[in-house]
Amino acid sequence: MLKNNGKKTAVCLLSTAALSLLLLLLVAVHQRVHRVDEGTRGEGPESGDAAAKTEELDAAAKKGFSAYFSKLSRGRREAEKPAGSPLSSAEPPRVEDISANDIFIAVKTTKKFHQSRLNLLLDTWISRNMQQTYIFTDGEDEELKKKIGSHAINTNCSAAHSRQALSCKMAVEYDKFIESGKKWFCHVDDDNYVNVRTLVKLLSQYQHTQDMYIGKPSLDRPIEATERLGDNKMKSVNFWFATGGAGFCVSRGLALKMSPWASGGHFMNTAEKIRLPDDCTIGYIIESVLGVPLTRSNLFHSHLENLQQVSRTEIHKQVTLSYGMFENKSNIINLKGAFSVEEDTSRFKSVHCLLYPDTPWCPPQVAF
Ligand SMILES: *[C@@H]1O[C@H](CO)[C@@H](O)[C@H](O)[C@H]1NC(C)=O
Ligand SMILES: *[C@@H]1O[C@H](CO)[C@@H](O)[C@H](O)[C@H]1NC(C)=O
Repeated sequence: MLKNNGKKTAVCLLSTAALSLLLLLLVAVHQRVHRVDEGTRGEGPESGDAAAKTEELDAAAKKGFSAYFSKLSRGRREAEKPAGSPLSSAEPPRVEDISANDIFIAVKTTKKFHQSRLNLLLDTWISRNMQQTYIFTDGEDEELKKKIGSHAINTNCSAAHSRQALSCKMAVEYDKFIESGKKWFCHVDDDNYVNVRTLVKLLSQYQHTQDMYIGKPSLDRPIEATERLGDNKMKSVNFWFATGGAGFCVSRGLALKMSPWASGGHFMNTAEKIRLPDDCTIGYIIESVLGVPLTRSNLFHSHLENLQQVSRTEIHKQVTLSYGMFENKSNIINLKGAFSVEEDTSRFKSVHCLLYPDTPWCPPQVAF
């Protein structure tokens, strides 16, 4: 009997141990599930930007990669959902509800190009965005004033294509933007087509009060410059900058912080200190002085890149386009549109008819 009792106790002890082990396991599994939950919860509105991505990776390192991988596979499942389901849209979340009127678009030109370049823009994208577009030039033009009134701004800067003349215009652009009270400053050149609808969508992903500098670099590494410190002292600096020819945007929050180096006459002084053109100076103030990194977007395009590479099916998704010449051959986007290349060498008229088919001068709707 005693022997039997002992056996019973042993079995009892053993099963208690087994049960405890099972409970422990359950707790562990539960905690793990909880962790995965935490890992996937961080899909806040900013999950599209680079900082959030870094945070995500840091979190993954801390919480174990399983959580991160489960997030990745969830993302994949989301992407594989059939089109039409509300969750399938690849559109990044909107963080701030803005409209085209919250954007100040500065177009930099020179009197020499009012006819050949600016009229094309006025007939196309600017015609739909008169309220937010300002033209910065270097000469009086009554015809231009008739078309866009006080939004034609004579900077009184030199018409030369010199570093100083370019910086002089950028300085006026900056001051006029601050004066405007608008939420975003975007700069483009007179050979850019701006798709304002996609621009609004892009900027809606950020807060205008945050430090944001968005554009596309044209170099594959940071630019090196020598900062003149006075007393004949020099300091070498490295920074990224968004190429002005592709267009770039700066949030109001950041623009206000730039003021000591950019407002009034300060921009020209800053540009002189590093002896670089206007767009590099913007990059210098933002990245080097203020320590705010450039946010890259592939939706901006300058004539310095091969424009044939812009996917034909994605043209309507781009924020800016451009055109130009390279070694005597035209560098233009590949678009089979409403007009032939002979009729529309820049392709901007065809792009415009693609985006705004109700434009009176666009040929009646045809399937391209
Ligand atoms: C350029 O000069 C004209 C005439 O003196 C002046 O009215 C205008 O305000 C100046 N433009 C700027 C941007 O300062
Ligand atoms: C481009 O064309 C011009 C005139 O037709 C010619 O003088 C020049 O050498 C050409 N340049 C190149 C890079 O082919």
